[in-house]
Amino acid sequence: MSISVVILAAGQGTRMKSPTPKVLHQISGKAMLFHVIDAAQSLSNDITVVLYHQADRIRKEIEAHYSGISFHMQNVQEFPGTGGAMKGVEVRHDKVLILNGDMPLMTKESLLSLVQGDAHINMSVLKLEDPSGYGRVMIDEENAKEIVEEKDCTPEQKKIQTVNAGVYCIQKEILKQYIPCLNNKNAQAEYYLTDIIKMAAQEHKTIHPVYVAEEEFKGVNSKLDLAIAEEIMQRRIRNEWMKKGVIMHLPETIYIDSQAAFEGECILENGVCIQGKSRLCNAHIKAHSVIEESHIENSDIGPMGHIRPHSKITNTHIGNFVEIKKSTLNGVKAGHLAYIGDASIEEGTNLGAGVITCNYDGKNKHKTTIGKNVFVGSDTQLIAPIFIEDDVMIAAGTTVNKDIKQGELAISRTPLRTVQNFFYKFFLTEKKKQSGEK
Ligand code: UD1
Ligand code: MG
Repeated sequence: MSISVVILAAGQGTRMKSPTPKVLHQISGKAMLFHVIDAAQSLSNDITVVLYHQADRIRKEIEAHYSGISFHMQNVQEFPGTGGAMKGVEVRHDKVLILNGDMPLMTKESLLSLVQGDAHINMSVLKLEDPSGYGRVMIDEENAKEIVEEKDCTPEQKKIQTVNAGVYCIQKEILKQYIPCLNNKNAQAEYYLTDIIKMAAQEHKTIHPVYVAEEEFKGVNSKLDLAIAEEIMQRRIRNEWMKKGVIMHLPETIYIDSQAAFEGECILENGVCIQGKSRLCNAHIKAHSVIEESHIENSDIGPMGHIRPHSKITNTHIGNFVEIKKSTLNGVKAGHLAYIGDASIEEGTNLGAGVITCNYDGKNKHKTTIGKNVFVGSDTQLIAPIFIEDDVMIAAGTTVNKDIKQGELAISRTPLRTVQNFFYKFFLTEKKKQSGEK
């Protein structure tokens, strides 16, 4: 199918109350605009993004993630409004799908329903209990005749519950013919794209209203909208993965990034958060654990485990309050309270409670390498860079500051000293001391 897509993203987004451009705010780990670009890319190879406010920043961000996207700079001073945004946009194909950069919930299926058929214009419409804020659509025998913006509506028109959802598929010829004819004689002194409906209808062009789902075509204008859209997106992501075989306990408490992926049978307990491009395969993530951009396979994590980016954990047991960062663990047990950063640890190795890799010297990060079958006693500090060979035993409380050879025991102990009756001398009154001394 030969479709060009134009994404309108020049608006200021004042209601977002943020220094970040509205369309770069993230939903499920991805900028709103990128959700729109992804949907567009599923049906088009000719995508133009219209920019103005913070154009450089948005363009840079797009170019860092996508190639082959075109940009059009709107002349907002002279031609404000959605019609102004389309002025001078060049497209390759005969059909042009016009999307908004702040509608991250549109699905490919809905967009396909908008590009079908051979009407001059397909326009998205919603039937709403409360139509306020939207342009009202006059429909006559299956053909849309006119869109009147709320600010230009008569009290009678305001009662119309069929509204413009703001997405259209318009033949290139129609745009060529009518965009230059738009004027700004309206309540907002803007060039309205919606005015081409009336002009085209008067010249007997076919304008099909396509009824769409409100949930998908809700624009995000505020941080409240952002949170609502996030909830919808999360519900979709969770449902999708549950259908594909992921088990979730109390799914509504679980957060999953749009770029995360699961294989085999994974279990996610309540309160789990899977961020970034994490890959999980046959993993059991227990309650309230956070996994950031990591690969976890045949392993269990948590409860309350924290796996930070670029970790690879396979065939491993990670217990509660263990933090792992940028480390590779295979066949390891770390049952409780440990910090493992910039480490590589091989199978059969056991990390006791309170084991810490001292990976940062205040200036640089250093690596810890631990071989197979190493027993690391509780409360051990491993001062990196450090290399522990296979079959090593490290006694509890040891500060390891030199490499340990295969088969060795490492132990650093201050001899234990005991002082008789010290407790009583230190804490208790004379009387109690005496009774204690009895
Ligand atoms: C628009 C429609 C309205 C519809 C509603 C649905 C017009 C005139 N009205 O109104 O009928 O019910 O969407 O949400 O089109 N933009 C630009 N340049 C501009 C102005 C806007 O690129 O100069 C972009 C915005 O960034 C946004 C999109 O166009 O992505 C829509 O603009 P917005 O101001 O939100 O339109 P509405 O007033 O909501
Ligand atoms: Mg507006």
